Amino acid sequence: MSTKKPKRYNVTTALPYANGPVHIGHLAGVYVPADIYVRYLRAKQKDVIFIGGSDEHGVPITIKAKNEGKTPQQIVDRYHKMIKKSFEDLGISFDIYSRTSGKIHHETSSSFFKKLYDEGKLTEKSTEQYYDEEAQQFLADRYITGTCPNCGYEKAYGDQCESCGASLSPMELINPVSKLSGAKPVKKQTKHWYLPLDQYEPWLKEWILENHKNDWKSNVYGQCKSWLDNGLNPRAVTRDLNWGVKVPLENAEGKVLYVWFDAPIGYISATRELTGDWEKYWKDEETKLVHFIGKDNIVFHCIIFPSMLKAEGSYILPDNVPANEFMNLEGDKISTSRNWAVWLHEYLEDFKDKQDVLRYVLTANAPETKDNDFTWKDFQARNNNELVAIFGNFVNRALVLTKKYYDRQVPEPGDFTPEDKKILNQVKEYPQSTGEKIERFRIRESLQEMMKLARLGNKYLADNEPWKLIKTNEERVKTIMYVSLQIATQLAYISEPFLPFTSRKMKDMMNLPDKTWDELNSRELIQPGHDINKAKHLFAPVEDKEIQYQYEKLEKSKIENEKAEKQAEPLKDTITYDDFVKLDLRVGTILEAEKMPKTGKLLKLTVDIGIEKRTIVAGIAKHHDPTDIIGKKVAIVANLAPRKLKGIESQGMILMANNTDGDLKFLHPEDDADNGAQIS
Ligand code: MF3
Ligand code: ZN
Repeated sequence: MSTKKPKRYNVTTALPYANGPVHIGHLAGVYVPADIYVRYLRAKQKDVIFIGGSDEHGVPITIKAKNEGKTPQQIVDRYHKMIKKSFEDLGISFDIYSRTSGKIHHETSSSFFKKLYDEGKLTEKSTEQYYDEEAQQFLADRYITGTCPNCGYEKAYGDQCESCGASLSPMELINPVSKLSGAKPVKKQTKHWYLPLDQYEPWLKEWILENHKNDWKSNVYGQCKSWLDNGLNPRAVTRDLNWGVKVPLENAEGKVLYVWFDAPIGYISATRELTGDWEKYWKDEETKLVHFIGKDNIVFHCIIFPSMLKAEGSYILPDNVPANEFMNLEGDKISTSRNWAVWLHEYLEDFKDKQDVLRYVLTANAPETKDNDFTWKDFQARNNNELVAIFGNFVNRALVLTKKYYDRQVPEPGDFTPEDKKILNQVKEYPQSTGEKIERFRIRESLQEMMKLARLGNKYLADNEPWKLIKTNEERVKTIMYVSLQIATQLAYISEPFLPFTSRKMKDMMNLPDKTWDELNSRELIQPGHDINKAKHLFAPVEDKEIQYQYEKLEKSKIENEKAEKQAEPLKDTITYDDFVKLDLRVGTILEAEKMPKTGKLLKLTVDIGIEKRTIVAGIAKHHDPTDIIGKKVAIVANLAPRKLKGIESQGMILMANNTDGDLKFLHPEDDADNGAQIS
C-alpha cells in the first residue's frame, strides 16, 4: 500500500469485449462502483483520469463474425458504438472510452511486446497444438471445446471451463472438438513466445502476499494466494490467429498477441490517446493506479499484467484491484449466450429517466463480498420504498413547504432545539463518513450512509409536522424548514457520485452552486434568503405492469433457451454403410404390456415381430401407460444381444425419440407396415 498520499489517480475499468451489449452484471461489478469512486475523487478535487474502452480482439469476436457472415471489424464497430453510448447514457463518466482495434493501441502493445522480446524477457518455445485440418487453422482458446478434466462438464472451452471456473489449456480437454468444423483436431508443431511467470513468483509473493495483505479485498487476496500457492507456469502471450495485434517479429506470419496480453495494455494506449502528458499517470510512483474488474479477471490484473509491467520495467503497479463478485439475475447466472441478462441499452429504453434507479439498485445490492441476486421485484421495491418514499418524499416536502410558506425563500431560523443542533452537526459529518467508505471501496455501505441522511430528513419532518405546527407556531416552523433545507442541500451534494442525475436535478431546483467535497463540511450549506426554484418530483413509482413486462421478456429467453438446447445435442461420429447394415431393424406390434414390480421405470412388453414374439423390457413406464400402448406399431432393434433387466431377459430394444425435456416418444411405422418388415 502506498503509505504516502497519492498525487494523482489512474482509475481503469475492465475493457468489455465488443461482441455483445453490456448487462447489469458488468455494471454492478465494475462500472457503477468505478464511476462512484471517480466522481467522488473529482469532488475531492483530485487529479484523476477514468479509463475505459472496448476489448476488440480474441477468439469469441472472430467466431461471432463468422457466424454472422461479417468481418471482426464490423462486429466490434457495432458493439463499440453501442456500449460507449449506453455507458454515457447511464452517466458513467469516462474521461476516455477507447478501443483496442485502434492504431495507437496496436503501436503501444506492439512496442511493449517488442521491448520485452528485445530484452530477453520472453521465452520462445515450439509445442504441439491442436489444428483443424478442414479449416486449416490452429485452435486457440475458444476455438476448441471438450470435456473439462476437472469437473466433467462437456462444453468446456480451450481456455476455461465455465462450469467449474478452472482455467485450462486446449491440451487438457478430454475429447476435444473444433468449433470451426466440428472435426476432431490433430496435433501440429507451432512456435510461440511465453512470459516466464514462474520467474516472477517470488517477487509476486512478496508484493501481494506480504505488501497487500491488509489493503486488498479478501476475495482478491484469496484468489491470488491460491494461484501463487499452486505455482505459476510460463504463459504463452501469442496465438496463431489472424485477428489481433500482429507479432512484431520476422517469421511470425499469422501470429498475433494473445488478447489477454494486448487488452490490459489498452489502458495505457487509452491514456496516451487522452493526453500527451500520459506518462505521469503510468510511470510516477505518486500515482495511485486502481483497476476495477469482475472476479473472473483477477488473475490477469493481479498476477499476469503486473508481471508484464514489472518485466517492462518503467511502469508503476496497481495499488489496488477492488474486484467484485458476480451479480446473478433472478437466481440464475447471467449469460450472454443464453440471453439471460438485463441489457443496459434495453433498460435505458424501457425505463427512460430512471438511470439513477438502476445505479441505486445495483449499488445497494452490489456483489462486493459475495455473489448477489438482481430481481425485478427488488428493483421495484427499492425504487418505490426507498427512492420514492424516503429520499424523494423528503426532498419534495421540504421544497413544497418552502414554496407554500416562504415563497421559495430559505427562512431565517429561530432558536435551535438540542435536537436541531444535534442534527445540524450530524449533517456536516456525512461527506466525511460517506467519503471514507468510498475510499475503502465499501461503496454499498457508503450508499447506505447517504440514505441514512435521507431517512434522517424524512423522519425529522414527520416527527416535527410543520404542516400542523404552522397554525400555532410560525416561528418554530421557520427553524424546522431551515434545518430540513440544510439536510436536503447536503443530500443534493453527497448523492452526486451515486445518483448524478438526481443530484443535478436537485442542484437546479435549489439553485445550488457547485462545491467541492471538502466545502460540504459546514453547518450552513444554504443561507437564509436564498431563493430556490420550482420543485419537481425526483422519482416516480415503478408500476406492476412495468415489472410484469420485464418478467415476460425473461420468460421468452427461457423458452428460447429450452428450444436451443433441444437442437444442441451434437452429432455422433460418422459411420460407414457397413456399420449401418449390421443393425437389424424391424417393424413390430406391441401385444402385451405390464409394469414390472418394484421398478417404477420399466415395462415388460411382448412384441410380435412377424417371425416370432419377443419379450422386451423398456424404460418407458414414466412416460407411457401400459393400457395405452397395446396394439401400437413400433420400430425395434431385433439383433441386439439379449440382456437381463431385473431378472427378465430383454430380447431387443424399442426405438424411441429422446426429447430434451426427458420425455420419450415412439417412432410409429404406418399401420399397414407388416410385422417383421425390415427397416432400412
Ligand atoms: N474483455 C475482458 C473481459 O470482459 C476484460 C479485459 S480487461 C483488460 O473479461 F484489462 F484486459 F483490458
Ligand atoms: Zn470444469
